[in-house]
Amino acid sequence: MSSSRPAAIIVLAAGEGTRMKSSTPKVLHEICGRSLVGHAVTAARGLDPAELVVVVGHGKDRVSAHLADIDSGVRAVVQERQLGTAHAVGVALAALAADGVEPTGTVVVTCGDVPMQTAATLGSLAATHVADGNAVTMLTMEVPDPTGYGRVVRGADGSVVEVVEHRDATEEQRAIREANAGIFAFDGRLLADALARVDTDNDQGEQYLPDVVRILREDGHRVGACVAPDHRELVGINNRVQLAQARRLMNDRLLEEAMLAGVTVVDPATTWLDVTVTYEPDAVIHPGSQLLGATHVAAEAEIGPGTRLRDTVVGPGAVVNNTVADSAHVGAGANVGPYAYLRPGTVLGQESKVGTFVELKNSTIGEGTKVPHLSYVGDATIGDHTNIGAATVFVNYDGEEKHHSTVGSYCRTGADNMFVAPVTIGDGSYTAAGSVITRDVPPGSLGVARGQQRNVEGWVGRKRPASDAAQAAQAALAAMERKPGEA
Ligand code: UD1
Ligand code: CA
Repeated sequence: MSSSRPAAIIVLAAGEGTRMKSSTPKVLHEICGRSLVGHAVTAARGLDPAELVVVVGHGKDRVSAHLADIDSGVRAVVQERQLGTAHAVGVALAALAADGVEPTGTVVVTCGDVPMQTAATLGSLAATHVADGNAVTMLTMEVPDPTGYGRVVRGADGSVVEVVEHRDATEEQRAIREANAGIFAFDGRLLADALARVDTDNDQGEQYLPDVVRILREDGHRVGACVAPDHRELVGINNRVQLAQARRLMNDRLLEEAMLAGVTVVDPATTWLDVTVTYEPDAVIHPGSQLLGATHVAAEAEIGPGTRLRDTVVGPGAVVNNTVADSAHVGAGANVGPYAYLRPGTVLGQESKVGTFVELKNSTIGEGTKVPHLSYVGDATIGDHTNIGAATVFVNYDGEEKHHSTVGSYCRTGADNMFVAPVTIGDGSYTAAGSVITRDVPPGSLGVARGQQRNVEGWVGRKRPASDAAQAAQAALAAMERKPGEA
C-alpha cells in the first residue's frame, strides 16, 4: 500500500542570500512573526513526514539554533560548500543514511526561502505523485515574469522533458512562462542513484536538482508536473522587496481568515497580524494596528486605532486604543488608552481603566480600578474599585533594586502622589494630593505627606513692583476693598 505520507521532507536552506544585504542569514528573516525557514518547516510538518531534514550552510550555527528552538524534531544537516541544489539533497540523504535511514517512500524537497507554501499544496503534490505512480513529480507555476526561474520544457504530447535554468536557456525557452517552483516529490528508492549522476555541465558549474527530472525520464520512469493554482504562493525570497511583497500577501491571507471568522477589520491595508495571533468573533480592529506573537483578542473587544500588541491577551469587550502593550493581560470590559504603555507583567482586572499617558509594568490592577491620567505604575498590586489620582508615580527603584507597593481596595489616592516602595496603603484609605508617601497608610486613614502652605502677602508688589503681575494684583486688591466680601 502506498501512502502519501512522505518518508522524508528535505528543506533546502544553505544558500547565502547575498541579495538580502544582511548580516542575518536569509532564511532567518521574518514575515508575520515567523522566519522564512520556519514557514517552510511549518508547511512541511503539516504532512507529518517520518523525517524532516533542513539543509543548512551559510549562517549554519544561527540557523541550526533557530531550528532547534522552533521544532526539536528537525534534523539540521550541514552542507559545507554550496555546490548546488542536487548536492544539497545528496548531503541530506547521506546524513540520513549515516543514521541508518534510507527513505524508500516519497521524499519531498522544498525550499526554505518560499514562505507562502502551504501544507495543502505540498500535500496535494505528494498525493498526485503517489496516485500517478511517478518517479518524480515537480511543482510548477505560471508566472507573469519568469526571469530567473528554471523553465519547464514539455514535449509535443505535453509531458515534461526537462527543466532549463534561465541562464542556460535559449531565447525560445526563455519565452516559456511555466517555471519550476523548486518543490518536488521523488520516489526515495530512485533519488540517490539519480543524484549521483547529476553533472555540473551548466553556466554556474553547480549540481542542479531539476536535472534529476531529465535523468529519471531518460531511465524510462514516469515524471509528472503539477501546476500550482496560484503562483504567488510559491514566490521565492531573494531580496527585501520580495520579502515585503510576501509579507503583504501573507498578511492578506491572515486578515482574510480573521474576517471570515467574524473579526471586523476596518482597514486591512494598515492592519498587521502574526501567524500566531488568535481571536474570537465580533472582535474589531481599527486602522493602524499590529497584533503580534501570542496575542489573543476576545469577542467584542476593540483594538486600535494605532495600537501594537505583542503576546497580549485582551478580554471580551475590552477597548484598547492607541496603546503599545507587551505580555499584558487586559481583563473583560477594561478600557485602555489612548496613549497607554503596558509592559510585561501588567494584569488589568475586569472593567478597569488605564487612561492617557499611563505606563504600567509588572503590576496588577483590580476589578473596576482606575489609573486615568499621566501615571507610572511599576511593581505594584492595586486592589478593586480604587482610584489612583492623576500624575501618580510608583517609585519602585532605589537605584539598585526594585521594590513592590500595595494599594488596597476602595482607595482614593490624591493627584500627584509618589508611592515610595516598599509601601502599603490599606483598604479604604485616602491620600492627599501632592503627597510623597514613604510610610504605610493603615486602612481607612488619610495619608498626608507634604509641606504646609505659607502665603507671603505683598511679595509681588515689593519684589516685582513695575510688573504686569504687580498691576493685576493691585487692581484685584483695590476691587476687593471696594466690594468687601465679593471678590
Ligand atoms: C531554483 C531552481 C529553479 C527554480 C527556482 C524556484 C535549481 C538549480 N534551480 O533556482 O529551477 O525555478 O529554484 O525558486 O535548483 N540551496 C542549498 N544548497 C545549494 C544551493 C542552494 O541549500 O548548494 C538552497 C538555497 O538556500 C535555496 C534553494 O536551495 O533555498 C534554491 O536555491 P537557489 O540558489 O535560490 O536557486 P534558484 O536560482 O532560485
Ligand atoms: Ca531562490
